[in-house]
Amino acid sequence: MDNGFWDNLPDPFYGLAPMEDVTDVAFRQMFARYGRYEEGDQMRGPDVMWTEFTSADGLVKGGWKRLKHQLKYQENERPIVAQLFSAHPGRMRQAAAICYQLGFDGVDINMCCPSETVVGNDCGSALIKTPKLAQKLIKAAREGAGGLPVSVKTRTGFDEHRIKTWISTLLETHIAALSLHARTRKQMSKVPADWSTVEQTREIRDQMNKDTLIIGNGDVESLTEAKNRAGETGVEGIMVGRGAFGNPWFFNLDITRAKLPKKKRLSVMVEHAKTFDELLPDQHFAIMRKHFKAYTKGLPHANDLRNNLMQTADSAEVKEVVMNYLHGLK
Ligand SMILES: Cc1cc2nc3c(=O)[nH]c(=O)nc-3n(C[C@H](O)[C@H](O)[C@H](O)COP(=O)(O)O)c2cc1C
Repeated sequence: MDNGFWDNLPDPFYGLAPMEDVTDVAFRQMFARYGRYEEGDQMRGPDVMWTEFTSADGLVKGGWKRLKHQLKYQENERPIVAQLFSAHPGRMRQAAAICYQLGFDGVDINMCCPSETVVGNDCGSALIKTPKLAQKLIKAAREGAGGLPVSVKTRTGFDEHRIKTWISTLLETHIAALSLHARTRKQMSKVPADWSTVEQTREIRDQMNKDTLIIGNGDVESLTEAKNRAGETGVEGIMVGRGAFGNPWFFNLDITRAKLPKKKRLSVMVEHAKTFDELLPDQHFAIMRKHFKAYTKGLPHANDLRNNLMQTADSAEVKEVVMNYLHGLK
């Protein structure tokens, strides 16, 4: 089976996780601009990125205008995968077709979201309890996706780890890649990720003789840790979420954020805010707040700086706050 771009990734590869109201086009732009570096004849950086999750039902039922910001991307972000959620195969098929038309490199189905609302609508991690429906959704996405590779992101189980049965169910469908957040739905993010479940998943894949790539996810805080996790578990890829907050250099082996001058770090934060204003003009600027917290972590007088940034309403104000801060440090 042709797995599209997945077949051409380095081994191991590292990806930026899908995160609602975090990994939007402005955030991913920062990784595309600052995360990349040359390794031999290959461009590394985040080797793959996902959009934040998007409701397939909303897209199909005409919510395109309301949701289009979630599926916005730019060419320098490739390979870029659109993540969808739904419990309706027909809508999944149609939404996958929309993603194909939009030029995405792949379609990913969210079978991991633990939130009450999503689970209450039988989507996200609720699909772990309805394996037949999960398989139908994968089939439908593939039918709609016009040849794009279809992947799944999931958890280890709903109330308890159910690796053997759940993972086999998914692998039977020949998905291109499977990202495993190494916790159950019940565990939310309250306990450490259990990486033995990632290794078990890779073993099941090997036993079933499938060519689905396995991607481990959970609590990775550095690229070195990502590399070690890949080595220990034997998986092809590692996905990083929270560890990369405020750090577009996370995937860049040539640059360490801690060693960057304050001015550089803050100028990239200002650029992020400006990119947000330019590319997502209809989105609430408050979305930038969690980024401010992350970018300023560890800086002198970070609390004051952060408090001032929290009051800003656009990138021009962010720039002014940063200039005043840098001036005050002199
Ligand atoms: C703010 C936030 C939003 C998230 N949104 C999504 C999402 O839209 N789709 C998804 O599959 N996972 C989502 N996740 C889960 C992450 O992709 C990832 O699985 C989880 O954070 C564990 O990885 P980490 O420890 O590297 O952060 C979200 C996580 C956070 C913290």
